[in-house]
Amino acid sequence: MIARDKAAAGRQRSRQLNRQDARREQGPLRAMKRVTTIDDLRELHRRNTPRAFFDYVDRGSYAEETLRANRADFEHYKFRQKILVDVDARSTATTILGEPAAAPLILAPVGLTGMQWGDGEIHACRAAQKMGVPFTLSTMSICSLEDVAAHVDKPFWFQLYVMRDRGFVKALIERAIAVKCSALVLTVDLQVIGQRHQDIKNGMTVPPELRLKNLIDIALRPAWIASVMRGKRRTFGNLMGHLKGVDSVKSLSQWTNSQFDPTLSWKDVDWIRSIWPGKLIIKGILEEGDAGMAIKTGADAIVVSNHGGRQLDGAPSAISMLARIAQAVGGDTELMFDSGIRSGQDVMRALALGAKSCMIGRAYIYGLGAAGEAGVAKAIDIISKELLTTMGLCGVNRVSDIGPQVLMDM
Ligand code: GLV
Repeated sequence: MIARDKAAAGRQRSRQLNRQDARREQGPLRAMKRVTTIDDLRELHRRNTPRAFFDYVDRGSYAEETLRANRADFEHYKFRQKILVDVDARSTATTILGEPAAAPLILAPVGLTGMQWGDGEIHACRAAQKMGVPFTLSTMSICSLEDVAAHVDKPFWFQLYVMRDRGFVKALIERAIAVKCSALVLTVDLQVIGQRHQDIKNGMTVPPELRLKNLIDIALRPAWIASVMRGKRRTFGNLMGHLKGVDSVKSLSQWTNSQFDPTLSWKDVDWIRSIWPGKLIIKGILEEGDAGMAIKTGADAIVVSNHGGRQLDGAPSAISMLARIAQAVGGDTELMFDSGIRSGQDVMRALALGAKSCMIGRAYIYGLGAAGEAGVAKAIDIISKELLTTMGLCGVNRVSDIGPQVLMDM
């Protein structure tokens, strides 16, 4: 082939690739037109994503009793319909830790987000900022603190696991300070790991284990391959390159498994409080006594959560514990809710039972896996609009007016 023909063939190939790229982007966006619920996003995510990663986020620990209760128990709380109230001026706007937010929603910390969609943490953070709600980056994220900070306009929150290597924990906090994270979410319900059977059955590893079954499953998801291959990273960005003697994926996974620390206690929370100068949020409270202890540490907010049914199986649903924890806390500390939110109706119930805002985890990851940044924005939009309608039908105009009066007496 002469050089001119070669160049023309190259140009044609590159046009083809651009068209393929455009089609890949268009596919998910077209599918989004028919999406009306978080469940629709879940179904698109399930279709797009290798099973090991979808199951990682979708499933829970052991018999999944708590995972199921988290969803089912919302239905015990029925709304009191209020008619002929002028609700024309209603709004989901509120404040979260003193900052204005477009809705009482926060994107929860979720590990491995960048394996659901390439650069998933950056896309989710951008969507959250565009929609006016906070985003929380997990310690176990794929994109690092610095990666995300370099690609978004505003500060985000950082979630911390206290690992055995306290020097590394201190360094992580210093990195979160350096990139100007606006709150630290300390997760306190994972010093021992609840087993998720499905992860073991799926051979869930990062990057994926190269078993024949996994390879076939991955080969069937071209959109996922394209998005994750385009992403910056395919392993834990906050850890890789920051640990002495850890320079391969294998040594990183050995290091991570050795880092869960069963000795963790309230003294460690005091230590974190002493080295983190900003807003501190303690996540993973499911009992009144622990709520009291968390407040004594000087936390600015606590999150009622059972880790989305991924830890203590057999624990009560988070929603069933919320009212009594709210009563124990009084008005002194901001109360957030997590575990099971899939709709604006769920948010309304959590606010009625005493929460000031709600974290969503799976709900936004389904959106991310369905269509990247647009899918995350869609998840936030669906839940916000459902909340706005529910407020209207309950005769409420402002988020701060949502209280026990919107629920029937039980
Ligand atoms: C970690 O936080 C997990 O739930 O997998």
